[in-house]
Amino acid sequence: MVIPPFVFTVVRSNKMRTAIYPGSFDPMTNGHLDIIIRGAKTFDEIIVLVLVNPDKDGMFSIEERVELIKRVVDGLKNVKVQSYKGLLVDFMKKQNAQIIIKGLRAISDFEYEFQMALMNNKLDSNIETFFMMTRAEYSYLSSSAVKQVAILGGSIKGLVPEKIIDDVVKRSRTFK
Ligand code: PNS
Repeated sequence: MVIPPFVFTVVRSNKMRTAIYPGSFDPMTNGHLDIIIRGAKTFDEIIVLVLVNPDKDGMFSIEERVELIKRVVDGLKNVKVQSYKGLLVDFMKKQNAQIIIKGLRAISDFEYEFQMALMNNKLDSNIETFFMMTRAEYSYLSSSAVKQVAILGGSIKGLVPEKIIDDVVKRSRTFK
């Protein structure tokens, strides 16, 4: 087997490895935070990117979600938080980034995530998606489930970071 020359370029490169962690984050959960912390240990820099998912209604505005995530990741030196209203691949081109990280919970996530990874790679063939297995303790956790529990008056302690619990509970009282 002949190793193509670009492999050597990658191996020898001193370029900073920036990974984009995209999502709706409406709201951020402890599962998201776990992926950010583990991602930050694996890559030089993580950009948590709040994007618009046209299929989902938002409890928080994009700006509010960025503010909540920034509050939580404050202190993680190689983690930045940004938002973008457009295609993920366009943002990545502007940042000169090629790596997407996503958390995979269970088999049920696979089809959706697989489709998005292939679509992003079709839109820009330089882009690779790296999947990180969600920790078992967070495997049942989703932003939608958190919203539902909060709206119906259940406790969300342990489901979202402590620093944003009050914001989610408060908003859930007015969100239908
Ligand atoms: O947390 P989510 O809702 O599963 O994240 C989905 C998200 C926001 C990453 C996805 O909808 C997205 O990438 N939106 C931006 C628009 C885009 O680039 N779409 C093409 C990929 S299918």
